[in-house]
Amino acid sequence: MTTQNILSRHTRLALTAETEDYVSKDTDEHKLIEQLKRDNGLEKVYRFDIGKNSDGYSDLITGILEKADLAELCRQNLADYPDNHYRLLRRRLADLHGLDPEWFVLSAGLESMIDHISRAFLQNGDAFLIPVPNFSVFADFSIRVGGRPIYLPLEPEANFQWTAGTISTLKSLISAHGPKLLWISNPVNPTGQSLPFKWMEELTAACALQGMAVVVDEAYGEYTDTDREVVSASRLTQKYENLMVLRTFSKIHALPNLRVGYLMSSGRDILKAVSLYRPMFPFSWFSLFLAGIASIDEEHVQEARRKLLVRHERLCRQLEKLKTFSYLPSQTNTLMLRNSHLEATELWQGLAQKGFLTANLNRVNGLKDQNFLRITVCSEEENDRFVRGCQKIEQELMAS
Ligand SMILES: Cc1ncc(COP(=O)(O)O)c(C=O)c1O
Repeated sequence: MTTQNILSRHTRLALTAETEDYVSKDTDEHKLIEQLKRDNGLEKVYRFDIGKNSDGYSDLITGILEKADLAELCRQNLADYPDNHYRLLRRRLADLHGLDPEWFVLSAGLESMIDHISRAFLQNGDAFLIPVPNFSVFADFSIRVGGRPIYLPLEPEANFQWTAGTISTLKSLISAHGPKLLWISNPVNPTGQSLPFKWMEELTAACALQGMAVVVDEAYGEYTDTDREVVSASRLTQKYENLMVLRTFSKIHALPNLRVGYLMSSGRDILKAVSLYRPMFPFSWFSLFLAGIASIDEEHVQEARRKLLVRHERLCRQLEKLKTFSYLPSQTNTLMLRNSHLEATELWQGLAQKGFLTANLNRVNGLKDQNFLRITVCSEEENDRFVRGCQKIEQELMAS
């Protein structure tokens, strides 16, 4: 007996679709790392492929984890279902963004939220608009539910940066095709470009006029906030009901294992629809508890931002000294990098053999065959090692 023909049409299509991402959940990362170690006699493989914050999480979390009464707290809570309305955390996030706590929906990481949004808005043949390169999960999940992509490729000549021209082209596409959804990441993953607030407003207004919705995914948003203010499109939710702004505890808060992300919107229909698709209990009490603690430590976020800037600058200066490598400027903790003599796969392989795992962007929509890798700015010591790895690659190139 085969169950193939009782699967939904979308599932069958999605099962045969090729993913364009640089990561795949089918890859057993642990096995890959062990294999690299064995084949190349490496003691350690450094993860430059994951957009994580190598400064770690808040000291408040460390303090809690070291507290003797944590065990008692766990004993009290683990046998119960968690709070399914996340009151405390929503109130705290509402304070941070100056919004109504009712305007928040939480999810098991933003990946789940992107899934809920796709399911809430799209079905057979519904158009969605997406400038590329972008976070490829947007397109993957939208296509999985039957959405039809309208891609706007960014110009290689402009180093894949958004320009004023991008905004006017997007506005033309919005009025010409009336897609249901516009997906944006800001700062953009994978380029790390920070898009000005006024562009977010212009696009949200253009979409509102056409009765369509906008998602501004600010997974890396805290990297471009300032110490004085949260610089977020969340402010626009007060004026526009068609806007959804997303943030996560996975990036600057350095807590990806908690799997806590959130959506902000003032659209009652949007809040209801997205909540419909979230499970009743997407995360454990422990995740909620620690996210609540991380959310009050604004100093940690400020310090992480400052520390990153110093290491980012230092890494860039070192990369600039290499003759065959070039990188794109970025406002986050990731950088796009390439080598003028090597294809992306060759460079990926060369670095992997030296113990550095990077993200190969060569299959990513909008960056196909551009030979870029994406690396994360790690600790100073790790970055120095990475640069030495690049120097070795350069020496090998000169010798060959
Ligand atoms: C733009 C963007 N959105 C969402 C996510 C997913 O974040 P989470 O860990 O909250 O699922 C990522 C992770 O890399 C990302 O880069």
